[in-house]
Amino acid sequence: MGKALTSKVTWVGKVDWELRRFHGDEYSTWKGSSYNSYLIKDEKVALVDTVWQPFDKEFVNNLREEINLEDIDYIIANHAENDHSGALPELMSYIPDTPIYCTNNAVKSLKGYYHRDWNFITVKTGDVLELGNTKLVFVEAPMLHWPDSMFCYLTGENILFSNDAFGQHYATESLYNNMVDTAELYAEAIKYYANILTPFSPLVIKKINEVLGLELPVDMICPAHGVIWKEDPTQIIHAYLKWADSYQENQISIVYDTMWGATRRMAEAIALGIRNWDPDITVKLMNASKEDKNDIITEIFKSKTVLFGSSTINRGILHSIGGLLTMIKGLRFTGKNAAAFGSYGWGGESVGYISKALDDAGFHVLNDGIKALWMPDETELSKCEDYGGLIAKGR
Ligand code: FEO
Repeated sequence: MGKALTSKVTWVGKVDWELRRFHGDEYSTWKGSSYNSYLIKDEKVALVDTVWQPFDKEFVNNLREEINLEDIDYIIANHAENDHSGALPELMSYIPDTPIYCTNNAVKSLKGYYHRDWNFITVKTGDVLELGNTKLVFVEAPMLHWPDSMFCYLTGENILFSNDAFGQHYATESLYNNMVDTAELYAEAIKYYANILTPFSPLVIKKINEVLGLELPVDMICPAHGVIWKEDPTQIIHAYLKWADSYQENQISIVYDTMWGATRRMAEAIALGIRNWDPDITVKLMNASKEDKNDIITEIFKSKTVLFGSSTINRGILHSIGGLLTMIKGLRFTGKNAAAFGSYGWGGESVGYISKALDDAGFHVLNDGIKALWMPDETELSKCEDYGGLIAKGR
């Protein structure tokens, strides 16, 4: 069922309470998600985005309760990824000639997904679609987070439809930011930024400054996932500016995997050394084979320094650490220190392997790391504590 946001704008999306894995298995969604679609009824009627394909029939049936499908004049596709365009084939089967407004890149991606030659109208930044008393102004937002992404702004109602930007994978009964748990909301918002938008941080800053430069009044920011920012709506814009600027807290994360507990003991001794040196530093230990990878990425995002540890196996490292090193390379974090540690029995290659991967991923590698042969004894653990103190000092 739709929910009215203003006299002209209605939310017609789908709350997906059960979603736990998104992008295949690439993103954990412990709080579910929503696929937000918005219906604008002025003298002309426009639909902004749709929902994921498994909900296409439910979406179209619900939409029929709000409007005769034939009365939809325009469809706006802010982004072609399936979670927002998945219901287009079902919808277009009833209104095949309705124009779809999108970027030039979105024509490529929509055609690539659905292999249909719909009535695409390409738009650029500054293009305007008159709806009557209001109008939609389009703003291209390439790489936020796909080349095809764009925002649109509804004059009169002062609403920014931002698609993925400013979203959260967060299923709620309430539509608005001021009606949900703020800590929970921000935990999902920062996880979303850390795992999806980090590589594009320079573009985030540029695009936000461009939008702010337009000096448009903003009464609501309506993203394509999660709650709508209605109370102090620009708070999320300011949070994004902070997150995009090599964000870090006074936190050191220790991410490790261990075969027989030796690397775990090293991790714990290093943590003790950090705390002994500076009790104000937040230290988080995470076993990569037991903790969720996206939650670990969020902790890395919040850290000023990250330590990766692995036992040596087959002249390399344990696969859970390998997977995370691949993820952090793609995410292109900036301004973070890092170092490696690990136990070994024979070759001891893991520390060098991790150090190189951290350097390749753009981290500032503080030192050569620390190794322990077999199970670390008190002397070895004491060295790890000292090493933790060194790390706390940023050396
Ligand atoms: Fe890029 Fe929510 O899809």
